[in-house]
Amino acid sequence: MPGNAASQRTSPGAGTALCGIVLHPSGHTRSPAMHNAAFRALGLDAVYLAFDVPPAALAVAVAGLRALRARQFAVSIPHKETVMAHLDAVDDTARRIGAVNTVTLRDGLLVGTNTDWIGAVRALERETELAGRRAVVLGAGGTARAAVYGLRKRGAQVAILNRTPERAAALARELGADAAGGLEELSHTPHEVLVNTTSVGLRSDASPVPAEALRQGSVVLDAVYDPERTRLLRDAESRGARVVPGKWMLVYQAAAQLETWTGSKAPIEIMAAAFDAART
Ligand SMILES: NC(=O)c1ccc[n+]([C@@H]2O[C@H](COP(=O)([O-])OP(=O)(O)OC[C@H]3O[C@@H](n4cnc5c(N)ncnc54)[C@H](OP(=O)(O)O)[C@@H]3O)[C@@H](O)[C@H]2O)c1
Repeated sequence: MPGNAASQRTSPGAGTALCGIVLHPSGHTRSPAMHNAAFRALGLDAVYLAFDVPPAALAVAVAGLRALRARQFAVSIPHKETVMAHLDAVDDTARRIGAVNTVTLRDGLLVGTNTDWIGAVRALERETELAGRRAVVLGAGGTARAAVYGLRKRGAQVAILNRTPERAAALARELGADAAGGLEELSHTPHEVLVNTTSVGLRSDASPVPAEALRQGSVVLDAVYDPERTRLLRDAESRGARVVPGKWMLVYQAAAQLETWTGSKAPIEIMAAAFDAART
């Protein structure tokens, strides 16, 4: 356990635990800021770096991280599915979701899991309980898979609405959601919880659904976190909904990664503040 290895070391040394995130392109990721702030707060002798790994270099990169005995690395776009082939084991959660976002060194083995679903449900649980709630997930890609899995695990009823309805229907069958359809069906789909997992709104002022389809009193989470206040969230607020920015999904999935590795409770507020401070 790294908790036992906590030290007052002020600069990285041979005993420092190596952690990081594997993604491409790396752009500006705020994961190192969040994790390094948490390491400092917990007194862990560990460092977290961003590794820009193009798809063709993934196998070599994982072999390198294995040789360097990296203690944990996050996996982001575009490697969440392909990384599985390079690991020693993948847990049931990640298999069911179909994606790995976290790899942890356990007894010398690289073990993959998924914490995106925890990020989604804990972010929503800032505002509402989920058991028995009617939830709509917009989108049917990788993030939708994690959100649907998490909502079902918490006992919510789930409808999946997607630009391509066939993908929504296939995901509903696979993960046991109650209904599926196109995005235009939101206005006549009763719900208390809405999660946007489409990429609409990412670095743009677009929303995947019209403001009139949003419901007063509902809780709306937008997985898109850049910008922090998306058009969808602003529309939802103006319709009387409570909103949860995607930042919280990112912070809680990172916290769950840290907890998976260390067993220590993650300092959520410190990680959120580091995320804010790392804004460009
Ligand atoms: N906050 C967090 O912690 C967190 C974690 C992971 C991802 N994310 C964010 O979640 C978003 C989705 O990521 P992903 O990996 O799930 O992507 P993905 O697998 O590529 O899925 C993209 C989804 O967006 C839909 N879509 C794309 N363009 C659209 C458009 N113009 N109109 C309507 N729907 C459109 C796609 O619909 P079709 O099926 O019709 O193509 C699909 O359902 C990204 O913005 C990512 O940054 C956030």
